Amino acid sequence: MFSKTFSLYAVLATATLSTVVASPTLAARGNSHRSGTRTLADAADEYPQLLPLEEGNSRFRQSIAESDHPDLLWDLTVNGQHPEFLFLGCSDSRVSEGTIFSPPPGVFFTERNIANQYGGEDLNAIAILAYGVTELRVGHIIVMGHYGCGGVQASILNKPDHLDRAGEAVQAWIGPIRTLYYNSTRDEIVKLREYRAANPDAGPPQFNDSGFRALVEENVKNTVWGISQDPIIYDHWQAFLAEQNNGTLKRASESSPPLKPVYIHGFVYDISSGEIYDLNVSQGPPGWNADWSKCKRNLITAIRHGNTNPDDVEDC
Ligand SMILES: *[C@@H]1O[C@H](CO)[C@@H](O)[C@H](O)[C@H]1NC(C)=O
Ligand SMILES: *[C@@H]1O[C@H](CO)[C@@H](O)[C@H](O)[C@H]1NC(C)=O
Ligand SMILES: *[C@@H]1O[C@H](CO)[C@@H](O)[C@H](O)[C@H]1NC(C)=O
Ligand SMILES: *[C@@H]1O[C@H](CO)[C@@H](O)[C@H](O)[C@H]1NC(C)=O
Repeated sequence: MFSKTFSLYAVLATATLSTVVASPTLAARGNSHRSGTRTLADAADEYPQLLPLEEGNSRFRQSIAESDHPDLLWDLTVNGQHPEFLFLGCSDSRVSEGTIFSPPPGVFFTERNIANQYGGEDLNAIAILAYGVTELRVGHIIVMGHYGCGGVQASILNKPDHLDRAGEAVQAWIGPIRTLYYNSTRDEIVKLREYRAANPDAGPPQFNDSGFRALVEENVKNTVWGISQDPIIYDHWQAFLAEQNNGTLKRASESSPPLKPVYIHGFVYDISSGEIYDLNVSQGPPGWNADWSKCKRNLITAIRHGNTNPDDVEDC
């Protein structure tokens, strides 16, 4: 099953790459726009609310042009993306991984949804996980929640009696967090539940309410756990261990690069300070202890020289 998925992705990747390289428009670095498109500046002329986007995009392109690596975008186009991180975060406008980690393009393969959930029936999430792990070969999956999460807050409130179609959709989506809230035995959450049962008119929990914060953290842990139980990850870990422990090659072909161990981490972000905390629930291949000391030394040097992608660094 594993190698089948692999070769399918390989075909897709090759097709995409050759199409891109052969395209005369892109070969000329896409400076001329195709018929049917207009510039963002033209669109902003008609819809002035778009002006900040146009201005931001100009600044982005300028910062690349003036950086140590002005050909970065073209290099990523020709060589493809090799992101080290798969990011699963919340859709909240304040928590974009493209902002809070100051990454250059090419670092994150991303899924964001309301309250950073992973469900075994969410085809979008499954496809992203499968493609990220088997084809893009990410080394780390980052699950990041944030204090003050609206999806988690809504899970603490009583479910409204009458729901329209939109309300139904949101309530169905946050259902697993509601279950977590009702079933959790964590002290802060039990206290919040008891308080709210005794005070049915209490308003929504405040940003710094300890029960609310605890539920944000438990929801991240639940997502980390859900991913670690998914056959995509589980099979990958077994394939990795088989290669390492008894030399049974499980790659697409002998010329394929070695499988990576793949780790899953749980982070929480404080929207009021911009700080990120690790929940210390990282998981990797069961029983596997890697020695990252050389990677650490090499990465520190690489970062000083402006290379922030561990995938490009020796021993990482
Ligand atoms: C508690 O969790 C179980 C599943 O483990 C679920 O069936 C039940 O509905 C949950 N309780 C509530 C109130 O959500
Ligand atoms: C929580 O935040 C509110 C403002 O939203 C503030 O008034 C209150 O003092 C804070 N409480 C704690 C315990 O930090
Ligand atoms: C190789 O290792 C894997 C995982 O550690 C194990 O499941 C498998 O049985 C091993 N195969 C042999 C031939 O020892
Ligand atoms: C993180 O968890 C490990 C065990 O899983 C524990 O040994 C370690 O002390 C924890 N670190 C912190 C800072 O809590």
